[in-house]
Order: sequence, then structure tokens, then C-alpha cells
Amino acid sequence: MKKARAIAAPLLGLVGILAGAGLLSQNSVYAQGVGIGGPLPPVPIEPNLVKLEPIEQLGKHLIFDTTMSNPPGYACVQCHAYTAGFTSGLEPIVNIIDGVPPGVVPGRWDNRKAYTYGYAAFSPQGPYYDSTLAVWIGGNFWDGRAFDTAMQAQGPPINPNEMNNTPVGSPPFDQYPPLLIKKIQNRPYSYLFKQIFGPDVFTKYTPLQLYDIWGEAIAAYEATGEVCQFSSKYDASKYGVPARNLYKLSASEERGRILYGVGPNPKNNRNFGKAQCFQCHSSAANPAIGLETDGKETFTMYCFANIGVPKNPNNPYYAMTNPATNPTGYNPLGRKWIDYGLGANPTGSLDGTRFYNKKPGDIPRFRGLFLTPTTRNADLRPRPTFVKSYFHNGWSKSLQEVVHWYNTRNIAVDPNTGRKVAFDLREGPPTGYDRLWPAPEVLENVQNVIGYTAAEAAAKGTSGVTAENGQVGNLGLTASEEADLVNFLKILSDGYTSPNPAYGGE
Ligand code: HEC
Ligand code: HEC
Repeated sequence: MKKARAIAAPLLGLVGILAGAGLLSQNSVYAQGVGIGGPLPPVPIEPNLVKLEPIEQLGKHLIFDTTMSNPPGYACVQCHAYTAGFTSGLEPIVNIIDGVPPGVVPGRWDNRKAYTYGYAAFSPQGPYYDSTLAVWIGGNFWDGRAFDTAMQAQGPPINPNEMNNTPVGSPPFDQYPPLLIKKIQNRPYSYLFKQIFGPDVFTKYTPLQLYDIWGEAIAAYEATGEVCQFSSKYDASKYGVPARNLYKLSASEERGRILYGVGPNPKNNRNFGKAQCFQCHSSAANPAIGLETDGKETFTMYCFANIGVPKNPNNPYYAMTNPATNPTGYNPLGRKWIDYGLGANPTGSLDGTRFYNKKPGDIPRFRGLFLTPTTRNADLRPRPTFVKSYFHNGWSKSLQEVVHWYNTRNIAVDPNTGRKVAFDLREGPPTGYDRLWPAPEVLENVQNVIGYTAAEAAAKGTSGVTAENGQVGNLGLTASEEADLVNFLKILSDGYTSPNPAYGGE
């Protein structure tokens, strides 16, 4: 407990300030848990937006049921709020301060940001290596440790830092939480289990099989039009599939689209794809995904990449070093803990490839790779001033910052003259220059570690940089181009139209 208090005290101080500034008031439903984590009041179940099949309805009930944690007081929705694009809605504690969400036991936090589960259903089973695209693809979680969303849904209930049920069975596949299996039999919605699987469902199936049903039901719900709505302004525009004319992009949004690199490039605009976002945040290059979505963009290819996100020094996980208070969820490495992403994936790939041998990160080629999240709903927030955290550790706090960082990650500045140069991230900035951003947490496999544009590379006599446009980390965008890109990201939030009928629970 000592460590937990040590974190909580300064946080409560800051929370006090935020509350004084009125920042907490709009989120009062969460205020109870602010500061130390711990049980939260139930979130009322959202009205159905599309017709749900019984199994999908069951999954929805499970996702909202705060009695499923141990102690009660935490459901999936508490870390995956609808109004925040299915990521944490706890603004001060998670998004402004920590970047990662607390769990049901006070003093315990996740070590990563809550990944949106919007469009997670379209991530191909994985991870698998795609030799055409030369990338690892698919699975769920930032490190891909669940093959699919059904397997993913079995994680949170037994995670000591999330819903904290004690599992029995042997990891990674044969565990289930007896307490949860008991509880699901006596809930107001338990009749749905019987309706779908037969009146003897609770005796016919073993606890492990019932836990599989838990996973399947949640996965079924996550694949419905409520979670994958395809209902943004983009979908309502002529770029949607099918094309519609309910929304017309503003000039700035259209310039942002061109920079991002999705949809057609009718005038062969030189800026098309200049910001490189499409490389990872578009499903266009992977026809298998398009088959699942009837050609609609998921705004991610579900590929793994290391884009060089820095450490989040505020991550409370660094201080969760006490095995006495948290025997299975503590952090033995303290501040020395490095998040290797795919390189720390304990499950392995679909074909049995191990991503580490003995210790997370001990295979260099997998270090630092994270599953690319969708940019859909990246801007979805309960109110315009609501702060959201971004990246796997919640390090960044705004889309403006995210875009500015992609644009200038590899740039250093001379504080005396203001002169800027691009540098090789592995070498660090030249003498007399300061980097604009903290160094990546993991340097291996960083995308465009060199980060010179073709012209710069030629001037330096460096080979191997062939892009006509900018490089990730040195995109060469002007301030107004950055703003255009942010404006484009904003039209990717669902809710402009009702959920797309193509996914209306069919
Ligand atoms: C205490 C907060 C918390 C709770 C409760 C929680 N999650 Fe999460 N969720 C997270 C975090 C953090 C991650 C990312 C973890 C990682 O990748 O290591 C995540 C990741 C996910 C993902 C991965 C999305 C993707 O595209 O890969 C899905 C799906 C998801 N959660 C669904 C659920 C479901 C279903 C439940 C309830 C059974 C749930 N979560 C409960 C915090 C939470
Ligand atoms: C080489 C692949 C790649 C490219 C190019 C790329 N991204 Fe990303 N993006 C990722 C990965 C991987 C992550 C997660 C990384 C992490 O958290 O460590 C990410 C994270 C993000 C996030 C945070 C989402 C969240 O849920 O926290 C946003 C927003 C984003 N990218 C926008 C962009 C934009 C805008 C561009 C173009 C300027 C871009 N990305 C270019 C791979 C890429």
C-alpha cells in the first residue's frame, strides 16, 4: 500500500486543482474513483442503436455489468467509454495525468492506455506475418497477444490490474474465473444464455466453456453496428462506401485528406499521401479487410510498427513495484521497465512464432512494434475541451501534438539561431542542437529512424532514402498543413449519421 499512497497523494492534489477549475464537474459519475482507482458507479446501458441478435445483446449486457469485477464496481465500459470513442472517459486521472486507466483495486493501474475497441472486430486473426506487405498483422491488444476479440474479452476479468477475478486453470488458454461464472447465472439478462444455448446451458457446459461463451458474446457485440458504426462525416461524404452526399468536406478537410492519403487523388496532387498516414492507418492496401467491410475504410491496416513513441514518465505502473499488495500484477522492474510491445507478446503468433524467448524484448526484431490503432474516433470526446491521451502509453494529449510530433520527430533546433536540422535518431542531434521531442522508448525498428527527406539525404550523401515526399518524423508539413490534417482526423468520428445500415446487426 505504501507505494500506492505515494502515487495517490500528489494526484489528489492535482485533482483538487482540476476540480476547483470545474474540470471534474461534467464527469461527476467518475469522480468517486478519481485519484486512487477503485470501484466506480455503474454506467447506464446505452439504448440500442441497431437491432441486436440475442448473442449480441448478451455481449452488450456483459460489457456494461459492473458486478463482474472483484470487488464489484468495474465493467468494460468504465475503461472503454462510448463518449470517448471506446477509450477511457476518466478525464483528469487517466487522460490528463496518468495516460493509463486504474483498475477496480485501489492503487492498481494498467500499464498501457485503453485501446479503442471500435473496429477491433476487423483486425484479422493474428498476429501473422504478411510476406507481401512485409509486416506483422492482426490480433488484438497493443502487443497482439490475443488472436481475436473473443480471446481478448477473456483477458480483462482475470487481470489483477483491471477487473481482478482470480482465475483457475493453466495459462494462456485454459483459465476461467469461477466467481464470474457463478455470477453470470443470476443476472437479469441470464435468460439470454438459456434462450441461445438451451435451458440447461449452465449445467451442460463446463465453466471453461461458459467462459468461451462470454468471449464469443462480447466479440459478437463488438462486431455490430453499435461499435463499428461507419457513421462519420467521411462515410457520409462522396468518399464513403457507398458514396453519399450527406456531407461535403470543407477545403481544409479536403487538403487534410490529400495529405493523409486516402480516397482518390483526382488531380495527381503532389501532396497526396505527403503525411504518410495512409501507410499504416488505411485498410486500402489489404483487400482481405475490405472484403469484411464491403470496401469501407477501417483507417488502420492492423499492422505492427514502431513509430518511436517516448516513455510516459507519469505512467503509475512504474511505481507498482510491491508484490505484497499485488502478487500477480506488480512491476518487478520499476522505472527500468521498457514496453517492448510485440516483443513482449507472451502468446506468440498464429503459426507458433515466439516473440521473445526468455525475457520480454530479448528478440531485437520484435522490439517496440505496436498494433496500429484506427484513427476513426480518435477525436471523439464528450465535449470539445475534453482531453484525450494518445499512443500505447497515453504520452500525447492532443491530436495537434500527435500530428506535430509525426511531422518533427527527427528535427533538432539550435537554441541560439533557431536553425533546424533533421537527424538520425540513433545518433542523436548534432552538437549544439536540442531535439524537439524526447527520444523514443525503444530505438530498434523505429520507422524512418534516419528521417531525412530525399533532398536532405542527397545533400548528406546518405543512401537508401527514396521517398518523393516527407518521411515519418520529418514530413515537411507547414503549420497550416498540420491543421488541415487535424481537421481531417476530426471528420472520422462516428455519430454524424445513424449507424451504417450495412452493419445493422446483420
Ligand atoms: C481497467 C481498465 C479496463 C477494463 C476494465 C477493460 N479494459 Fe479493455 N483495454 C484496456 C487496456 C489498458 C487495453 C490495452 C491493453 C494492452 O494492449 O496491453 C485494452 C484493450 C482492449 C481491447 C483491444 C482492442 C484492439 O483493437 O486490440 C479490447 C477489444 C478491449 N480492451 C475490450 C474490453 C472488454 C470486452 C472488457 C470487459 C470484459 C474490457 N476491455 C475491460 C483497459 C481496460
Ligand atoms: C509506420 C506506420 C504509421 C504511420 C506512417 C503513421 N502511424 Fe499513427 N500510429 C501507428 C502506430 C503503430 C501507432 C501506435 C504506436 C504506439 O502507441 O506506440 C499509431 C498511433 C497513432 C495515433 C494514436 C491513436 C490512439 O488510439 O492512441 C494517432 C492519432 C495516429 N497514429 C495518427 C497518425 C497520423 C495522423 C499519421 C500521419 C501523419 C500517422 N498516424 C502515421 C502507425 C503509424
